[in-house]
Amino acid sequence: MNCKFDKIAEYYNPLIKIFANPKKHYKKIRDVFELNKNLLVLDLGGGTGLIADYISKDVKKVIILDPSERMLKKVKNNKIQKARGIAQKIPFKNKTFDFVYCVDSFHHFTNGYKKQEYSQAINICIEEILRVLKRDGVLLIIEFDNTKFFGKLLEIFENYIIYFGSKFYSKNELKLLFEEYDVKVETFDINNFSYLARITKK
Ligand SMILES: C[S@@+](CC[C@H](N)C(=O)[O-])C[C@H]1O[C@@H](n2cnc3c(N)ncnc32)[C@H](O)[C@@H]1O
Repeated sequence: MNCKFDKIAEYYNPLIKIFANPKKHYKKIRDVFELNKNLLVLDLGGGTGLIADYISKDVKKVIILDPSERMLKKVKNNKIQKARGIAQKIPFKNKTFDFVYCVDSFHHFTNGYKKQEYSQAINICIEEILRVLKRDGVLLIIEFDNTKFFGKLLEIFENYIIYFGSKFYSKNELKLLFEEYDVKVETFDINNFSYLARITKK
């Protein structure tokens, strides 16, 4: 199982708070998707639970699925259920979840794969997400746009400095990627380097 994040789990929370604002992401999620106490939610690539901490107050249950044992160990909120695994093989039955979200994780789903395998690895993830989502269920993806300066910088850092093997999608590329599936795709800008995509399963 790909565990690149095991190496940085110890520093992840303080480090990420310099560059990102989990509360802002949570508010953005709430702006485009109405959370309620009946929802069963999957936080895919949820890591240390920075976003799930907020979401868990508004929904019935959040489960984080992540391959990194050390990132999962940092989840201290006992309202959050943790599962170790990858987006390519989601260990839940068909039509389990009302809502799935990926914050800063979708571009990591290629970590550990060879470049020529990226496209297949991502397609498998999408099929898995759509399998575990209920009909009319929603997938939200918050990502960096690599056509923007900071997004490009992050792409260079992850792929040429720390060799994570990340596949970034610009807002338009992500839209095209999902248009191959039986879904409705809407995108929203968050700031001048990141965006949110809301994908509704038909
Ligand atoms: C940058 S962290 C984001 C964590 C969290 N979503 C947040 O916003 O703080 C990316 C996470 O994606 C996870 N990840 C990497 N490959 C994955 C895969 N194939 N399936 C699911 N998660 C994966 C990593 O272990 C890591 O915890």
